[in-house]
Amino acid sequence: MRLKNAMKVEKLFDGVFRIDGKLATVNLVGGKKVYDEDLVTVDGIEYRTWNPYRSKLAAAIVNGMKRLAIKEGSKVLYLGAATGTTASHVSDIVGANGSVYAIEISERSMRDLLMVCESRENIFPILADARNVGKYADDTGTADVVYEDIASPDQAEILLRNADLLKGGGIAYVAIKSQSIDISKKPSEVFKEFLQKVSAGFDLAQSIEIEPFDRMHLFVVLKKKGASEKAGKL
Ligand SMILES: C[S@@+](CC[C@H](N)C(=O)[O-])C[C@H]1O[C@@H](n2cnc3c(N)ncnc32)[C@H](O)[C@@H]1O
Repeated sequence: MRLKNAMKVEKLFDGVFRIDGKLATVNLVGGKKVYDEDLVTVDGIEYRTWNPYRSKLAAAIVNGMKRLAIKEGSKVLYLGAATGTTASHVSDIVGANGSVYAIEISERSMRDLLMVCESRENIFPILADARNVGKYADDTGTADVVYEDIASPDQAEILLRNADLLKGGGIAYVAIKSQSIDISKKPSEVFKEFLQKVSAGFDLAQSIEIEPFDRMHLFVVLKKKGASEKAGKL
């Protein structure tokens, strides 16, 4: 852990900072790392650096995200949590009063994710296929934000299936991987088709290219159609 007082901490969004040029979140679990991030203490606050090469959400923030709907106390439905790299930073941002429902299909990834959840009590791991919303809807209830990063050909359909678990006016963040959807088409065509499919339920708020951190991806911010309502149990 590095202890420095002369470092410059710049707030980008609630819970998201830039420290000496590196993105960072406040560590919810003092002294504990999740992957190979650095722990940096400035003025008595411990931060975890957030690597945009390891997290598409970090890449999108670095590349110009305008606003972040994930904040202190948010309830986030995370589709494709893998081993918890990005989910752990979301857990930092939402804090002890927020929650991250982490859906993951792979048992192998879930084993590592469970270790992260041992110390992060605001992440609720769920081993499930995100296509089978009925398997977890009673546990998750309605979320303020949906985050989807599942690199699957039916990513758009999966998002639409989960839309009932997002409050009206809620934000969905999606990392669209063109090569997982249709390798024979140009990425721009795949992105356009994805947006057309989800337009039944969502309006596009912002699209962000995330190169050089990740290739063949488009990161989109979508707003669920319909009146804003308070998140609660279904
Ligand atoms: C690109 S990785 C996610 C990386 C993670 N979001 C991060 O930034 O730390 C995609 C994950 O989605 C999972 N996945 C793929 N299809 C899924 C499905 N239908 N339901 C749930 N998870 C799925 C994969 O097992 C994989 O762990």
